Amino acid sequence: MVDRLTSSSDHTSKDLPVHVAIIMDGNGRWAKQRYMPRLEGHRQGAKSVRRAVEFCRSNGIKYLTLYAFSTENWERPESEVSGLMKLLTQFIDSEIEEIHRNDIRFNVIGQLQRLPESVRQKIKTALDKTCNNKTMTLSVALSYGGRQEIISAALKVHDKLVSGDLREDDLNDSVFSSFLDTAGVPDPDLLIRTGGELRISNFLLWQVAYAELYFTDLLWPSFDEDAFWKAIEAYRSRQRRFGKISEQIQSSA
Ligand code: IPE
Ligand code: IPE
Ligand code: MG
Repeated sequence: MVDRLTSSSDHTSKDLPVHVAIIMDGNGRWAKQRYMPRLEGHRQGAKSVRRAVEFCRSNGIKYLTLYAFSTENWERPESEVSGLMKLLTQFIDSEIEEIHRNDIRFNVIGQLQRLPESVRQKIKTALDKTCNNKTMTLSVALSYGGRQEIISAALKVHDKLVSGDLREDDLNDSVFSSFLDTAGVPDPDLLIRTGGELRISNFLLWQVAYAELYFTDLLWPSFDEDAFWKAIEAYRSRQRRFGKISEQIQSSA
């Protein structure tokens, strides 16, 4: 693929998002349109994951967070849940060497204690192997729910307040953030959702406070480099004001 950031004058690395988060939706519908089983859609979805990681790595996007399985997805038919767990294990097996070679840190967020032991083992090995990598962080949200994450952070904060390790006056946004699963990862600049639904579905509720939202009708297995570029271009055309007025933003630019 042509590196468009350096090869053309209208693409510069200026104003690229530091952190992109993606709700990878539409695998089931992709398969249904082709009279295939839903799991085939998830299988194709895994190829899109590889493409998205490579896109971010080659264009210098430092953080990519992918919503792979929500707390609510546990309610799906058992065959789909176990199929997804198997695919996840296969994904780690087939990709972790390349992820490591590319200096990418593999990270996971979510209620990992709910995952089968074999999957947790795989994850642990992948985390340990890549923990010192610096070029990029790939976070996969697994058994993840934003509300559950906030409750768990609130309980940790409560413990610290009770033990006296934290004073109420010192509790602010950034201290609270440090108790979330995403501690150490900046908030997403751009949130993409594929599959046409206009909702957040319990993803990164705290962290998306000021993210730019981008929705596309493309189903996740069809989300390719061109589609990713379109999302980036949309992001760059927006003015992020963070509550200020436009003149304040221009004068500080
Ligand atoms: C997203 O695709 C992947 C997961 C939630 C695991 P879906 O499986 O939700 O696909 P659709 O929305 O049914 O098409
Ligand atoms: C969101 O997709 C979760 C993931 C992509 C992992 P869903 O398909 O579960 O979301 P809803 O049910 O349409 O809101
Ligand atoms: Mg869906």
